[in-house]
Amino acid sequence: MDKVRLIKPYVSFPDIEAEFREIFESGIFTRGKFVEQFAEDIKSYTGAEHCFLTTSATTSLWLCLKLLGIGPGDEVVVSDFSFPATANVVEDLGARPVFADVSPDTYNMTVETLTASISKATKAIIFVDALGNPSGLDVIKETANALGIPLIEDAACAIGSSIDGQKCGSIADMTCFSFHPRKLISTGEGGAITTNNAQWADWLTAKLFHGAAGMKGIALDFVDYGYNFRMSELQAAMGISQLVRLDAIVDQRLRTRAQYVHHLAPLGFVPQQVDANVRHNVQSVVFKVPDSIDRDRLVIALRDTVETTIGTYAMSGLTYYETKYGCPNPVSTKLQECTLTLPCFEGVDVALVCDAVQQAIKSVTKEFTC
Ligand SMILES: Cc1ncc(COP(=O)(O)O)c(C=O)c1O
Repeated sequence: MDKVRLIKPYVSFPDIEAEFREIFESGIFTRGKFVEQFAEDIKSYTGAEHCFLTTSATTSLWLCLKLLGIGPGDEVVVSDFSFPATANVVEDLGARPVFADVSPDTYNMTVETLTASISKATKAIIFVDALGNPSGLDVIKETANALGIPLIEDAACAIGSSIDGQKCGSIADMTCFSFHPRKLISTGEGGAITTNNAQWADWLTAKLFHGAAGMKGIALDFVDYGYNFRMSELQAAMGISQLVRLDAIVDQRLRTRAQYVHHLAPLGFVPQQVDANVRHNVQSVVFKVPDSIDRDRLVIALRDTVETTIGTYAMSGLTYYETKYGCPNPVSTKLQECTLTLPCFEGVDVALVCDAVQQAIKSVTKEFTC
């Protein structure tokens, strides 16, 4: 059998052929109507008042911190169980990432772990929707508001997720999305920032255009210095074609996840937990593997048939951060060691994957007993 991949993109060439042709024929590759439309579509989908399309979630997070003036001497509390980009942007600006441990069930920062990580130097909080799951963001928002600390949502994985019907993108003070190929919407590389803050939107407008705001005579008026982390027209056309199908994609992924739970829960695999008021977009289908099974051996045993991987990283335990700041968090560390991500895409044969997992468990167990 062909190896089962972890994910397949939800965009194919016929979906965007006409738009790509139009872009090539017009010669307008940047700052055109597709970028404008994709940003408008994200605003109406998420309910956010402002949206800026960027090159990645990493540059988006970096810009949000820059906007808040984060720098040396400052601390930013970050959810520990995440891709390193979440902490790297803090470190890059000379501030200190403070790793808040996570719930062993939702894999997200909790009010308790956040509160324990706050100090006088805390200038921002980055809540990560672990693997697309925003569980707990609503209570973290209340806490952040009460403390008067800006809340950035690292929703790199969470486009399409919501809490009480409110979409990620309109909940935190600023939200950052990723359109990397492992996400539900892929533009190759790409990202977005959403916010309801008009002043911040003005800052982002100029900063994403080299510092220009309007015209001075017949030339641009550079009122500030700035950057270029903008998405291109071709990427935006790809994004538009997927966003219209996003809710259907999430429905399909939720069904796939339910099938996995049906097959794997009896084997002792525990799925990532989701609060009752949350709609999880299932960016990844992730289980905790029972202690009796060596997760790493399982991944290796499946290598030729089914692509699987770890859930994500305990950033506090990464060589760089542990060497610099010491003391990795226990729950995130355990999650990095015992979580398993399984293939999830349109048409994935869940029964076949679970059969392969069962066979692999047997072979791993046999190796142990030999
Ligand atoms: C939680 C989280 N934050 C940030 C990123 C970085 O996203 P990008 O590749 O768009 O920079 C990722 C990438 O997977 C991620 O999972």
